[in-house]
Amino acid sequence: MTKKLILSFLLLLLLNSPPLIFTEEDKFSRNDFPPHFVFGASSSAYQYEGAAFEDGRTPSIWDTFAHAGRVHGANGDIACDGYHKYKEDVQLMVETGLEAYRFSISWPRLIPNGRGPVNPKGLEYYNNLINELIFYGIQPHVTLLHNDLPQALEDEYGGLLSRKIVKDFTAYADVCFREFGDRVLYWTTFNEANIFALGGYDAGLTPPGHCSPPFGMNCTSGNSSSEPYIAAHNILLAHSSAARLYKKNHQARQRGFIGINLFAYWFIPYTNATEDVIATQRANDFYVGWIVNPMVFGDYPYIMKKNAGRRIPAFTKLESKQVKGSFDFIGLNHYNTLYIKDNPSSLKRDDRDFNADMAAKITYQSETLHDVFPIRPWGLVGILEYFKQVYGNPPIYIHENGQMTRRNTTLNDTPRVNYLHGFIGSLLDALRNGSNTRGYFTWSFLDLFELLDGYESSFGLYYVDLEDEDLKRYPKLSAHWYSNFLKGRSISLDGTIEVEKMSAISESHFSQ
Ligand code: NOJ
Repeated sequence: MTKKLILSFLLLLLLNSPPLIFTEEDKFSRNDFPPHFVFGASSSAYQYEGAAFEDGRTPSIWDTFAHAGRVHGANGDIACDGYHKYKEDVQLMVETGLEAYRFSISWPRLIPNGRGPVNPKGLEYYNNLINELIFYGIQPHVTLLHNDLPQALEDEYGGLLSRKIVKDFTAYADVCFREFGDRVLYWTTFNEANIFALGGYDAGLTPPGHCSPPFGMNCTSGNSSSEPYIAAHNILLAHSSAARLYKKNHQARQRGFIGINLFAYWFIPYTNATEDVIATQRANDFYVGWIVNPMVFGDYPYIMKKNAGRRIPAFTKLESKQVKGSFDFIGLNHYNTLYIKDNPSSLKRDDRDFNADMAAKITYQSETLHDVFPIRPWGLVGILEYFKQVYGNPPIYIHENGQMTRRNTTLNDTPRVNYLHGFIGSLLDALRNGSNTRGYFTWSFLDLFELLDGYESSFGLYYVDLEDEDLKRYPKLSAHWYSNFLKGRSISLDGTIEVEKMSAISESHFSQ
């Protein structure tokens, strides 16, 4: 198996020709994509809703993390106030031409203590939002857990670190399937299963912010060597339990689909040295295989088990059988291509974390520091080809893809337009190569409360004016670009005139 993987991986490398020059041939339109392919935009509950203390919602681990000052002093107490402004936002989606909208349900808003009674106000909010979307023909794609695990469960038994999460998550998922499944056909159990475990329990950069020295900073609790593996294991078990329940009790009637989401870089070797090529395959095994191998093959990649040893939990025969095949689609959040260098010395350490076990160094391979992501759209072709060759071409949704910029009043976000143009063009290439991708969502619809730095960076098609008490939304150039694309207009980047025209529209909107 390993030999086969390396061979397919070497083949994939041939696909990685990096030029990023747009020509006339880069013109494409929405009509070049299959009619059933969906295009949309994404958000998540804690990053969008606000109303953190309203109508019975209780804190999540994200509230606690933010209020401890760990997101650059910012929090999502108000965020975009989507709890009150969702109707207005759905109107913006309609104007933009979104075909689908990806959002998440706040577990502590729906079931305030994590388990037990459902909050009627929470139920009402999500019913209203879903009905509004459906009314305008926008397909809802719902994530059940996007980092905001109820603090009550964290306090009671340590959240993801306990097997008890499997039962509570499944019961929560069941409430969602029962209450919303007549209208929601696309369910994702966990957002970024791999990064939830890594960010939250190794580096401590995301909720609940566990880590231990020397791997993370300012952590008061945690164990970076073992906790990420335990958290990911429980995520996989909770996912498979919820998916099983959906398939058994709801799918035949509701006719929906269920999957899990993970963060997926495209990795390429830093040099042509065999060591770097092998290290790159190892990095894919660690970042992608960690979540996808159990779901496709029933177990973790061999190299992970070898290098992490007893720190990575083992699946029982029954668990392996249950996890294997427990998905209808896989959601990918893809932003970047990074370069991998072999780093064998990390395996000599006694105290190791995930990165040390991976024995590889990740780099941007760039002389300049980027304020925005370097645009490497061919990476999307690479990662989709990888899923095709290694995992048998499962149905995929690109759940997140977008450009980061500083959050400011500049509506001329040309780097985001370039990014979208490049990646959507690459997506078309991937589909023409036979990828089974079914939809694309850009992150994010609005400028949100951002995971890593609160209100300092932004990914939105729409700027949200935090100085304005009504949190007014303004379309950026990228909103016009995406809207033109979605409305079937032929899009090219060599059309500087087109871009200039759009930026004039954008600025005049802002000055109104
Ligand atoms: C990853 C996460 O799913 C989302 O919460 C975050 O804001 C974006 N991608 C950007 O980092």
